[in-house]
Amino acid sequence: MTKKAELHYDGKVYELPVITGTENENAIDISRLRADTGLITLDKGFKNTGSTQSSITFLNGEEGILRYRGYSIEDLAENASFLEVAFLLIYGNLPSKLELDFFVEDITQHSLVHEDVKSILDGFPSKAHPMGVLSSLVSSLTAFYPKSLDPNRSKEEVNGTIIRAIAKLPTLAAWSYKNRMRQPIMYPKNELSYTANFMHMMFGLPTTEKKVSPVVSKAIDKLLILHADHEQNCSASTVRIVGSSHASLYASVSAGIAALWGPLHGGANQAVIEMLEKIKNDGGNVDKYVEKAKDKKDSFRLMGFGHRVYKNFDPRATIIKKAADDVLNELGINDPVLDIAKKLENVALNDDYFKYRGLYPNVDFYSGIIYRALGIPTDMFTVMFALGRLPGWIAQWKEMRENKEPIGRPRQVYTGAKEREYVPINNR
Ligand code: SDX
Repeated sequence: MTKKAELHYDGKVYELPVITGTENENAIDISRLRADTGLITLDKGFKNTGSTQSSITFLNGEEGILRYRGYSIEDLAENASFLEVAFLLIYGNLPSKLELDFFVEDITQHSLVHEDVKSILDGFPSKAHPMGVLSSLVSSLTAFYPKSLDPNRSKEEVNGTIIRAIAKLPTLAAWSYKNRMRQPIMYPKNELSYTANFMHMMFGLPTTEKKVSPVVSKAIDKLLILHADHEQNCSASTVRIVGSSHASLYASVSAGIAALWGPLHGGANQAVIEMLEKIKNDGGNVDKYVEKAKDKKDSFRLMGFGHRVYKNFDPRATIIKKAADDVLNELGINDPVLDIAKKLENVALNDDYFKYRGLYPNVDFYSGIIYRALGIPTDMFTVMFALGRLPGWIAQWKEMRENKEPIGRPRQVYTGAKEREYVPINNR
């Protein structure tokens, strides 16, 4: 029997259907609200509004649960490879060995990008932030693969576009870095794994053969898995809404990269390290910065703390914190910024302001410390986030297209001027 909600308005009672999800989440379906009542809803930031029904990722913010297609993030981070998780998110099930081998081989064969991309790259000054470069280069793929512009082509052709996106993003990301460093670009090496190949293109030089340690590769693979999807976050919602106009996958992902760049979203991992370094250079006084974060007159926020959904702990932060310890121990690095992070976390977790608001370390709080230990520069941290999030964006875009969802077009409450006559400029 369908559950119902009642809306009492203007002397009438309206019944609204209630939809129940797999994990017993309930939602009032307001698809007919305006037609039946003349009302719309208002919910700035969509804090209480579901934009879709999705079978990709499940979050429970109170219990700190994150599952990709039903598999727990803990299980996947421990046992799976990043491309195995990418396959799971995009196609819905864990691949067989044969399926995974084909998937990996297909991606390996498409890791090169058109030589003309280099001329686009050369147009960027070395000061260009790699996220801006990456968003532009991803959008430029529409020029080299014009068939990708039509998302309504055959399943095989759309899948080809998906494979190229996964295969080429590491190359474009590494080239964005090389542009920043004004170093010669490195081409992908097909004999390397996905993450090792990325590290080779980032840190390799034509003159030296830099071996990528298996510990480093595994740590990066785990980080990419932890970032792979997160249901309807800001950047995934951006990918969906851009794709809902039947814009191409590359255009939608380019927009997703732009949304992720913001310091309140994926840009937080860069902002966390910049904040920790500022605290270190200011004598390491974490109490002072915790007080600043609580002061309403001060715009300072503790970057890496708080989350729209997790009002308890972010399960990814727990996994990343352990990985940070492991990587720093393995590499024999003693990073004072990590010590400050742990001190800051301890002070905040025992402070009523943060506890009352459910502000705990999120995925971005510790990830930057690992990237730093691996020699990845700070303004590449959000590029690392984009590399991880790509399969999630693709899965969300693909689900929205396969479900033939309508173009996203929210309504508004108008608060501007009432109708008024035009006044000729000489009479104003
Ligand atoms: C990601 O959505 C996702 O899933 C995102 C993500 C993903 O995987 O895609 O998980 C990745 O983006 C993680 C979040 C990274 N961002 C940061 O670390 C930036 C710092 N955090 C915040 O700016 C904030 O916590 C947000 C943006 C993450 C969430 O903001 P909300 O849900 O809109 O909450 P809010 O801004 O309304 O804050 C509620 C209260 C306010 O105080 P009161 O008005 O109730 O007195 O909490 C306070 C805020 O002032 N608050 C903070 C704070 N975050 C919220 N106070 C100090 N420091 C903070 N970090």
